[in-house]
Amino acid sequence: MSIVISTVNMKGGVGKTTLTVNLATSLAKYYQKKVLVLDLDSQISATLSLFQPHEFAKIRKKNRTLTYLLDEVIEPNPYSKLTIQDIIVPSVCGVEGLDLLPGDIELYDEYIISKKLHQQSLEQEEFDFEAIWDRFERVLLKKIIDPVRDSYDFIIMDCSPGYNLLTRSAIAASDYYILPARPEPLSIVGIQLLQRRIEKLRERHQNTEALNLNLLGIVFILSSGGLFSRYYSQVMKRVEEDFTPEQRFKTTIPMDVNVAKAVDLFTPVVLCAPTSSGAKEFVRLTQEILAKLGR
Ligand SMILES: Nc1ncnc2c1ncn2[C@@H]1O[C@H](COP(=O)(O)OP(=O)(O)OP(=O)(O)O)[C@@H](O)[C@H]1O
Ligand SMILES: [Mg+2]
Repeated sequence: MSIVISTVNMKGGVGKTTLTVNLATSLAKYYQKKVLVLDLDSQISATLSLFQPHEFAKIRKKNRTLTYLLDEVIEPNPYSKLTIQDIIVPSVCGVEGLDLLPGDIELYDEYIISKKLHQQSLEQEEFDFEAIWDRFERVLLKKIIDPVRDSYDFIIMDCSPGYNLLTRSAIAASDYYILPARPEPLSIVGIQLLQRRIEKLRERHQNTEALNLNLLGIVFILSSGGLFSRYYSQVMKRVEEDFTPEQRFKTTIPMDVNVAKAVDLFTPVVLCAPTSSGAKEFVRLTQEILAKLGR
């Protein structure tokens, strides 16, 4: 069975996608793991970090993206034939064992989901919209990944900022969540807010089937040098007070221009500039994660 990890933070632009694609690529390239990346964000950043836009345009035209699988859970069509295996793109960036389930700019329609679940609750003897909604949230992504759980060592899901249905469903289907953050006061508040929401999610599912979910750790993305460095070290001191060593990774990721430039090449930095400081720390983090998981 694979280990399922969600990369989450309610705050935008903190490095979720960069972490997802570099962790996945390191696991496949340097540790020979079989890894599937799921892009759950309609910004399709993870997809375009691993895949050329013209290639993406071709598969989208053929409707071979996550949207197809979401539609199948939301409103199954008896004529639909494709499985998740048909939609997964194998060996992206030429790396054996690094597979991608491409995202889409149009993922699902909230109105259709609400209407359908409302209808379902009316059909039941006891009207309980909340219970039906919770159940749907619990199974949406689980149903999508279940057929390939035995085929991968790791399934890593790149969540969008905020706390939408797909993010909640991804967290509920995960064994672990990993939290990239910047050492800024608002980012730290964001971590605490997310932790509280996850606790609520856990409570909601307690009575049906308890979530098997743990925080893998918080990864800090640091700027070094300049006027910020003293300020950041003050904030990091607060982080040390607020979070236990088990909650934080020892490895931090430096801000490195090679990481940002890699996006232009549609290839993660661990592949296109492996000797850069950013790439080295992503590989070190991968090693720390494997050790934490006892692999
Ligand atoms: N270590 C780093 N060094 C330099 N640039 C970085 C680093 N990490 C991320 N970036 C850049 O910061 C920007 C935001 O990163 P990223 O897209 O990974 O964040 P995100 O949390 O996924 O954003 P969103 O919330 O919009 O999904 C990107 O332009 C990315 O290239
Ligand atoms: Mg992102």
